[in-house]
Amino acid sequence: MRSACGTAALLLSASLTGCGDSPQSALSPHGEGARRVAALWWLLFGISMVFVVLVTALVLWAAIYRRGSRVRVRMGSAQRFVVIMGVVIPTIVLVGVYVVGLRDLRALSDPRDPDQLVVEVTGHQWWWEVRYPEGGFVTANEIHVPTGRTVNLRLRTADVNHSFWVPGLTVKTDLVAGRVNHLWLRTGRAGLYRDQCAEYCGLQHARMAFHVVAQPPAEFSAWLAGQEHSATAPAGGLAARGLQVFQTASCASCHAIRGTTANGRIGPDLTHVAGRRYLAAGTIPNTRGYLGGWISNSQTLKPGNKMPPQPLTSEQLQALIAYLETLR
Ligand code: CUA
Repeated sequence: MRSACGTAALLLSASLTGCGDSPQSALSPHGEGARRVAALWWLLFGISMVFVVLVTALVLWAAIYRRGSRVRVRMGSAQRFVVIMGVVIPTIVLVGVYVVGLRDLRALSDPRDPDQLVVEVTGHQWWWEVRYPEGGFVTANEIHVPTGRTVNLRLRTADVNHSFWVPGLTVKTDLVAGRVNHLWLRTGRAGLYRDQCAEYCGLQHARMAFHVVAQPPAEFSAWLAGQEHSATAPAGGLAARGLQVFQTASCASCHAIRGTTANGRIGPDLTHVAGRRYLAAGTIPNTRGYLGGWISNSQTLKPGNKMPPQPLTSEQLQALIAYLETLR
């Protein structure tokens, strides 16, 4: 009995450990939507725990006072028990949970705030295009938001269905082909939130992550102003040679860099790629080594993605990396 209790406690703590104050957890809410989801989760968890204890107690009771023991149960009271426990109590619990769910749904449908920052997010296999109509620019896989302000997200997909899941900040919403779905989030806590596509969307669904970077308003405004600028062409040296490589190799047919002739729309906009924390939708850190590996043959890091291996000489690759590193 003691070892069974120990195992149960271990399983419970193991299942909750991954949900502590991690950067991707619905149980450490830092936004209004996520707080409602977490409250609902704890309510359902609490109710289930009550029933687990109750059913376990009944099973033990039945095992101890099994048929043949001296305790006799009258048929009338047994029927009453089945009606109360099997019909009345489940009905009360389910209706109660339904009412709480409806209340949350209503509260989450409207942020009641006219001052909203609009951000348009488009899901691609397997990365996220992020457009800021206010600043007139496009970025990828990293959504910067100001703290204290409502962010109105317009979600669409360029190919198959995806699901936009920011567990620490708000509810999950699908990106459905042929329509625009709306979602809002608001947080008072600056920080980096890891997020994930939550709808199976093909081979690299698991590597379709993104980050929400919540910043104090002044810091966010500075970021916005920086992103509005086009890339400045390097004056000379290795980086200037890198720009030449970028425009003459096949890079420019899929990627755009504002301020250059590159305006491809198949892959992420690279105007400020060096300022991002990760590459390939949260797959690898944005460091010189990973960047080089990704350009040479991204298929070894994320098989099935749309970027073909680049047959560059080592000199061309070094120059290209040097150029991309200037794009802050
Ligand atoms: Cu996109 Cu899963």
